[in-house]
Amino acid sequence: MANSTDGLIELDSQPVGACCSVIYSHPLATWLIGESFHPGGLALTDEIANLTNLGPGKRLLDAGCGRGTSTVHLAETTQCHAVGLTLESDGVERGRALAAATGVDDRVRFVQDDILHMDTSIGEFDVVLMECVLSTLEQKPESLRQLYRIVKPGGYIALSDVTVSRELPTELQGSIGAALCMADARDLDEYMSLIEDVGFKVKEYRSAKEAVQQLIKKIGTRLMIAEAAIGLGSLKVNRSLIVQARDALKIASKLVEDGSLGYGLIVAQRAG
Ligand SMILES: C[S@@+](CC[C@H](N)C(=O)[O-])C[C@H]1O[C@@H](n2cnc3c(N)ncnc32)[C@H](O)[C@@H]1O
Repeated sequence: MANSTDGLIELDSQPVGACCSVIYSHPLATWLIGESFHPGGLALTDEIANLTNLGPGKRLLDAGCGRGTSTVHLAETTQCHAVGLTLESDGVERGRALAAATGVDDRVRFVQDDILHMDTSIGEFDVVLMECVLSTLEQKPESLRQLYRIVKPGGYIALSDVTVSRELPTELQGSIGAALCMADARDLDEYMSLIEDVGFKVKEYRSAKEAVQQLIKKIGTRLMIAEAAIGLGSLKVNRSLIVQARDALKIASKLVEDGSLGYGLIVAQRAG
């Protein structure tokens, strides 16, 4: 879990989901990655919206919505009704503020809940979206089964996520790996099996490796800026964290090159 005090962030080993969620609440994460906490950003989100026919009157659940960036974006661009669900109260507050600022708060709401134990009276959805979330869930089959219950017949589950096809080097197995959504990530085939095992039928899938390459490049540049700012005393962040992150990023970059680390998109449908 990450503990944050006075701008300092300390990592130790805790469950992947909890670690990921606390790290993404830290302002440094926003600065390094942006408001959209997944490779490919909103362009990949738009691709999913097209593939799932999201539009006016449809109901979307953004499961593991972070700060609600995709939730609000899709409500605005497709005119759908959206619910953002996240573990963090911070995410709910930020999501509500963003929805109000964007003028979609009449069609968007945010709830703090755990996918695994979620209150299924939340209703039924045409599309359940998971961006960089399945990789972080410790109980993947049970969580997917829970989501299957709330997808309408003929509705979709759509996800984009980090893919890993071999055991990670030790440097990426701890909290840094968790922060980068790698620690419990699977390959595309395994995600598809998990999804089909609970009853969905995969309709579309593709590698989106270019998205992870771009994100690594962007974070790498910002880590260099962060190091310089720490040196100048204008950034109060534990320097060892930056060094750790930079080393992890170098290893991750090599794994992307050799094909064992990537990003993928899957759209699957519940029988009508
Ligand atoms: C890497 S962030 C991605 C956020 C968002 N989907 C995006 O792309 O900007 C992972 C998100 O999943 C959420 N999450 C992880 N485990 C969860 C669970 N069991 N139930 C609900 N949300 C969960 C975290 O709180 C966090 O908001």
